[in-house]
Amino acid sequence: MKIIISKKGYFSSAHRLYNKNWDHNKNLKIFGKCGNLNYHGHNYEYIVSLRGRINKETGLLFNLEKLKNILKKEIEEYFDHKNINLDLKEFRLINPTMENIVIFMWNKIIKKIPSNLELKITLYETKNNFVEYYGEY
Ligand code: NI
Repeated sequence: MKIIISKKGYFSSAHRLYNKNWDHNKNLKIFGKCGNLNYHGHNYEYIVSLRGRINKETGLLFNLEKLKNILKKEIEEYFDHKNINLDLKEFRLINPTMENIVIFMWNKIIKKIPSNLELKITLYETKNNFVEYYGEY
């Protein structure tokens, strides 16, 4: 029997979406307000979910205090109050869409959790817009 535990987290970051091969009007047309030249912020919310079997000795799937520390170090300290385009070298050539951000987050977190657990991350860019990533299973 497999179950899922989840933890929520938050960070606030600035970004701008654009393709450098397009002129500004085309970028605005494709990316809307997220294409504005001078960057803007989002209050991102995310949910990290771990799926697996309960440890019979502890009754736990994974220590939530440990998960909290992983998320603080790998996600919040990394993204919070940063300009994703300018401050995070991994995004110099990658458009910081919520799709690309969630994949990046997943690739960071998967390295920190035991291999017998499955990882899913949901990332909210706004209250109504969110993306989910389960990895390439
Ligand atoms: Ni935006």
